[in-house]
Amino acid sequence: MTSGTTRSARELWGAHFATDAAPLMQRINASIGFDKRLWAEDVRGSVAHARMLAARGIIGEADRDAILAGLEAIAREIEEGRFVFDPALEDIHLNIEARLTERIGEAGRRLHTARSRNDQVATDLRLWVRSAIDRADALLRELQAVLLELAERHAADVMPGFTHLQAAQPVTLGHHLAAYVEMFGRDRDRFACARRRLNECPLGAAALAGTSFPIDREATAGELGFDRPMANSIDAVSDRDFALDYLATAAICAVHLSRLAEELVLWATPQFGFVRLPEAFTSGSSIMPQKRNPDAAELVRGKSGRVIGHLVALLTVLKGLPLAYSKDMQEDKEGLFDAADTLELCLAATAAMLREARFDVARLRAAAGLGHTTATDLADWLVRVKGVPFREAHAVAARAVRRAEELGCGLEDLSDAELAALDPRLDPRVREVLGVDRSVASRTSFGGTAPVRVREAIAAARARFLGEAQR
Ligand code: ARG
Repeated sequence: MTSGTTRSARELWGAHFATDAAPLMQRINASIGFDKRLWAEDVRGSVAHARMLAARGIIGEADRDAILAGLEAIAREIEEGRFVFDPALEDIHLNIEARLTERIGEAGRRLHTARSRNDQVATDLRLWVRSAIDRADALLRELQAVLLELAERHAADVMPGFTHLQAAQPVTLGHHLAAYVEMFGRDRDRFACARRRLNECPLGAAALAGTSFPIDREATAGELGFDRPMANSIDAVSDRDFALDYLATAAICAVHLSRLAEELVLWATPQFGFVRLPEAFTSGSSIMPQKRNPDAAELVRGKSGRVIGHLVALLTVLKGLPLAYSKDMQEDKEGLFDAADTLELCLAATAAMLREARFDVARLRAAAGLGHTTATDLADWLVRVKGVPFREAHAVAARAVRRAEELGCGLEDLSDAELAALDPRLDPRVREVLGVDRSVASRTSFGGTAPVRVREAIAAARARFLGEAQR
């Protein structure tokens, strides 16, 4: 231990481990295969820790300088793919520390003063999740920008609005797309809240109880960009709420992406024919030459499953754990990494797919009137113009729908005589409200689908979400 190279974690623990780890122990125990993704955060945390130790006179300045130079060299080795990750050294923390000692000797063995892998890994993972949140926010913002661009282009293009996937009332495509802008805005807000809660530093909690050395937790917290040190050392090493916060937010966001993807899948069918997805995001069939499968959208929909699964997995890992650290917590990483990779891929793919998607506005317009979607407008007209109580007006409109179905025509095609036979108060002027454009234009309540409101809402959304000045 005092000279030469450290070959296994056991050597770092000292004399009371006489035997080597069983090969199966190494397989179940080692996390280096996945936690090497934390290398940059681990180096960063060690740099802050070494500086603080020297500032407090816990290690000498020469040792600090050797440590900093050594860590910088190791970072370069890893970046350039020259670093050998060794499963016998368990995890990223021991791999880097052993390499440091190999490079700089004695000073390397001083780095772990007043620290434990428990506070180290908690710190590293917080730093990693913080970056993941920032990446997700940037991708969400970009997706919102694409949606707002489309919403603007289609602010007045009518389409059927659905409830129960039955044609309900005409809306505009811009209004429909802008609904997703709101959802992704809430996701960004959830990520921002998660980031605020996450941004406290566990470093200095050591194994669980704090340390007898005169450390400066404010200093390390500040250097690592945290708002403050965590208040309780036991909580600091046992808490993974920040990972759950990330996963929960990612899961909700993945559900939003999945609903959007589901609509694209439906809308791209010849039966709907609302949208043509970019060829580059679809595939053909080897047997059915007419097919154009929306694979990317289907995968965005499908991949939401694994993000949701990772949230449930980590909740399950944590739920029975006594305080403070238990090795179970090493299971936090793979799901988290996969969730972040998956979410980022789905956000980017959805934005790219939408950027090139072409909506068939003629087809949307034709579909908007199918299924007597202006029946509510007929009822509202009776209320507004004739003073009929709404419930009664609803019954008249229902009779009109039945009659139009019998005749196989639209509400607006019912003759004057037909209308009068349904109810004497239905005079021909009612036809003015039965067109889809009139219907949509009349829905001017705040948050409604009238193009004038949609354009205002888009401008407001640009200001709220993209930070653009209101025009
Ligand atoms: N690889 C471990 C993890 O990810 C680091 C912490 C190990 N701590 C310990 N006391 N063995 O959780």
